[in-house]
Amino acid sequence: MEKYSLIFGASGGIGKEFCLALAKRGENLVISGRSENKLELLKNELQTIKEGIKIITLPLDLSSSEERVLAFNRLKELGVIVKGLYYVSGLDTRKAFLKYSEEKIITQARVNFEGALSTTKFALDNRSEKLDILIVSSACGLTPMPYFSEYSATKSALIYFYKGLKKELKGSGVKITVLCPGSVPTRQDIIEDIKSQGLTGKLSKKSPKFVVEKGLLALSKNKTICVPGFYNKIVSFISKITPYSVKASVIAKKFKDKEKDAF
Ligand SMILES: NC(=O)c1ccc[n+]([C@@H]2O[C@H](COP(=O)([O-])OP(=O)(O)OC[C@H]3O[C@@H](n4cnc5c(N)ncnc54)[C@H](OP(=O)(O)O)[C@@H]3O)[C@@H](O)[C@H]2O)c1
Repeated sequence: MEKYSLIFGASGGIGKEFCLALAKRGENLVISGRSENKLELLKNELQTIKEGIKIITLPLDLSSSEERVLAFNRLKELGVIVKGLYYVSGLDTRKAFLKYSEEKIITQARVNFEGALSTTKFALDNRSEKLDILIVSSACGLTPMPYFSEYSATKSALIYFYKGLKKELKGSGVKITVLCPGSVPTRQDIIEDIKSQGLTGKLSKKSPKFVVEKGLLALSKNKTICVPGFYNKIVSFISKITPYSVKASVIAKKFKDKEKDAF
C-alpha cells in the first residue's frame, strides 16, 4: 500500500501544471485523462523531474460510470492510498442551449460534475489519515451565464457541493479548495478566444503555473474558494453586488456570437 495523489485531467493545460508541481514535491501520482498516449508522454516527462517517484497512468472516459468503476477497482488492486485528489477535467462548450444535442448535455454534465463527485467518493473511501482535495471550477461558476448556461451551472454546482461536503467533513483531516480561475491560456482555441475578448481577456488572463500555485497555496490553508488574480477577484466582487438582470444582459451581449465547442 502506497500513498498517491490522483490528478484527473492531467493531460490538459492546467492539469499538467498540477502534475509538475506535485512531482517536484516528490509525490507519487496517478495521472488520468482519455488519451493513453498523452498520459505515457507525460509520465516520461514527470519521471525526469524527481527521481524515485511512482507514476500510474489511468486512461479513462469520466463520462462513463462503468469505466470509472473499472478504474477504481484497478487502483484498489494496486494498493493505492489517496493523499490528494486534483479534479481538473472539464468540458467548456459555449453556445445557445438550443444548439445542444442530448449527447452534449449529458457528457458535459457528467465530466464537469458527476465525475468530480464519483472520484471524490473513491478518494474519501481510500484515503490516508489526511486528504487534500482541490477541485477546478471556474469564475464562470460564480454567476449564471447566458450562452454558457450548462458550463456555468456545472461549475456552480461544484462550488455548492464542496462547500456542503466541507462542513460534513470538518475535523476529519480533509482539506477542500475549489479553484475558480478566470482566463487561462491552455488550448489554442482558448488562447484565441481570450485574444478576441480584448482588454477584459487580457486583464483576466493568468498562466496555468500562476493558477496552480495560487490553488495549491489556498489548499495548504484550507481556503474554500480561490479566485486567482487581482482583476478576477475584483470582477467576482462586482458581480456579487450587481443585480442579475444587468449582469445577464452584459454577459449575453458579450458571448452571444462567440461560440466555443470543446468536444
Ligand atoms: N482554460 C481556461 O481558461 C479555464 C478557465 C476556468 C476554468 N477552467 C477549467 O479548468 C479545467 C482544465 O482546463 P484546461 O484549459 O486545462 O483544459 P484542457 O487543456 O482541455 O484539459 C481538459 C482535461 O480534461 C480531460 N478530459 C476531457 N474530457 C474528458 C473525459 N470525457 N474523460 C476524462 N478526461 C477528460 C482532458 O483529457 P483528454 O483530452 O486526454 O481526455 C484534459 O486532460 C477545466 O475543468 C476547465 O473548465 C479552464
